[in-house]
Amino acid sequence: MQNRKKEHIEIVKNKEVSHSYNYWDDFVLVHNALPEINMDEIDTSIELFGKKLAMPLIIAGMTGGFKEAKEINEELAKVAEKYGIGMGIGSQRAGLENEDVEESYSIIKEYKIPLKIANIGAPQLLEWNDVVEKAQKAIEMIDADVLAIHLNFLQEVIQPEGERNAKGCIEKIGEIASSLTTPVIVKETGAGISLSVAERLLDTDIVGIDVGGAGGTSFAAVEAYRAKMIGDKVQEELGKIFWDWGIPTPHCVIELAELCQENGLILIATGGVRHGLDVAKAIALGADAAGAAGAFLTCSSIDKKMEVFLKSFKAAMFLTGCKKVEELKEVEVWTL
Ligand SMILES: Cc1cc2nc3c(=O)[nH]c(=O)nc-3n(C[C@H](O)[C@H](O)[C@H](O)COP(=O)(O)O)c2cc1C
Repeated sequence: MQNRKKEHIEIVKNKEVSHSYNYWDDFVLVHNALPEINMDEIDTSIELFGKKLAMPLIIAGMTGGFKEAKEINEELAKVAEKYGIGMGIGSQRAGLENEDVEESYSIIKEYKIPLKIANIGAPQLLEWNDVVEKAQKAIEMIDADVLAIHLNFLQEVIQPEGERNAKGCIEKIGEIASSLTTPVIVKETGAGISLSVAERLLDTDIVGIDVGGAGGTSFAAVEAYRAKMIGDKVQEELGKIFWDWGIPTPHCVIELAELCQENGLILIATGGVRHGLDVAKAIALGADAAGAAGAFLTCSSIDKKMEVFLKSFKAAMFLTGCKKVEELKEVEVWTL
């Protein structure tokens, strides 16, 4: 498992694993030629899960569980602290099953990150008998404010050694969400969450959904490369067939916005988010915040990338005449 997580990072850094198309490009925010505001007075901050973020952005969970992951999480944590944004970590399965690698996750506790998100995978919930204890341990490992349960069945179906039993996940999600005092969210990992899945999740006590939609990192692509590395030609071809599988992130947001608002669920838009303009589009379409993973792995400097995120978000607010983030929700969006 440690090798697998390491290979994921190496493949995302060194190969082209994006979807063929980024769907955020299909949407434009309508330009306001007379914004009548002073850019210096723009407030990009929001409150999310009761925590104040300097902008509506989360570094989406990516890694942990092997030696070098500690450095990656530490670098991300430093930037999350400096810019005052949220941060998730990768699946904590390895840390829960092997104390030796706990530090690769818990390192983020050393930093004052306003919102820390723990992470466990739905497929593991079916294997573990003590799901609530495991979830609690994952939270304590990083002093998390929120626990994310990830759904990744696209990845599991392409991964040569994938876990393909998806029976009983929703019950386990319900059990965890109703037993913990820490808020629980459900997140996809690049294939998106549809309205009907979100409606089924309403039967649980989760407090938010990260749609983790299509348009950015393709886990079918990542697993196609891994299958190639071990000479599994069938799984490699399967990965190529499903490379672009998934519900585009902006469409997930449009579909889920009303449902989430009516039911008091936080809606996070992760998937193909490249900069602050994509974040602004996500908010305008109805999300409360956006998340980005691949963008922070494939850049040459995480610090500079974050500066671009912040500045481009502020520029989008200025050019649409918004002084506060909530005003972005009223901005007109055109579909190309
Ligand atoms: C290298 C890598 C590893 C990831 N590992 C996890 C994980 O362990 N748990 C999880 O919930 N999501 C994981 N993700 C998915 C991301 O959180 C995110 O949903 C997905 O990459 C889509 O966002 P992006 O297009 O900005 O990359 C991973 C993403 C990357 C790039």
